[in-house]
Amino acid sequence: TDRYAVIGNPIEQSKSPLIHMAFAQVTGQDIEYSKVLGPLGGFAPTVDAFRAAGGKGMNVTAPFKLDAFAYATDLAPSARMAGAVNAMKFEGDRVYAENFDGVGLVRDVVHNLDFALRGKRVLILGAGGATRGALLPLLAQAPAEVVVANRTVSKAQELAALALAHQGGTVPVHGLGYEDVTGAFDVVLNATSSSLTAQMPPLSATAFAPGCLAYDLTYGKGLTPFLHLARQAGVAHLADGVGMLAEQAAEAFAWWRGVRPDTRSVIAQITVPLV
Ligand code: ATR
Repeated sequence: TDRYAVIGNPIEQSKSPLIHMAFAQVTGQDIEYSKVLGPLGGFAPTVDAFRAAGGKGMNVTAPFKLDAFAYATDLAPSARMAGAVNAMKFEGDRVYAENFDGVGLVRDVVHNLDFALRGKRVLILGAGGATRGALLPLLAQAPAEVVVANRTVSKAQELAALALAHQGGTVPVHGLGYEDVTGAFDVVLNATSSSLTAQMPPLSATAFAPGCLAYDLTYGKGLTPFLHLARQAGVAHLADGVGMLAEQAAEAFAWWRGVRPDTRSVIAQITVPLV
């Protein structure tokens, strides 16, 4: 039995063990997956101990994604671009590190929710870690344009410039303040941490194009203020990050075990209605 775990603080709320054990069952993989409460300021010794006990890999959640970035010996491009790590694989003294949040988001939008991004206008709110991780996977879908809107405008501009440099300028990327967002978007993603405090970015309801998708990257918070605004604006397609959570887990599982599980039944199991 190979051992895996998710490390975070707090960790009680984590759905990762449930998700990974469900994947193990459907793929016939013999693994164990537990929760590890990392002491604040004590990430490295806790992971050292898990490895010493034979642990093969870990998922990393708040507040340790930057600690994991520093701990890794081999950073994948996804982790480099995100500046954060959400999955590690241990082989001898090597620590391979990935960030699957961005691909998980895009897989959920494109495959599960059936919103093709090619040629579409995409608006992403926030310029923190979540947006950093999402930009390159989004750009790889060849949208017509990506606009990053943030309260602190300079952070949006810096991220837009970074993303442009990384993808060679094929897709236009703009960094703006909320008041400078103009026109309507086919997909609007809330990647701010505002939903965690039941707040929302000052976005105009005119940003939602007819038939658009409004997607909040947080999960388990029901109808967040952002999703509420979207619903008020007449948006019919609302989603939270539950599918993203399942898809990033499936990516990690495939990376560790060499087999990619289907996510549908797990998503159905952990979905909470948006009310
Ligand atoms: P994460 O890793 O979750 O992205 P982060 O790096 O701390 O967290 O980034 C949080 C993001 O949410 C930032 O874009 C932040 O805006 P600022 O850069 O201007 O601080 C945004 N954010 C948090 N609370 C917000 C609120 N109430 N309204 C608007 N934006 C908010």
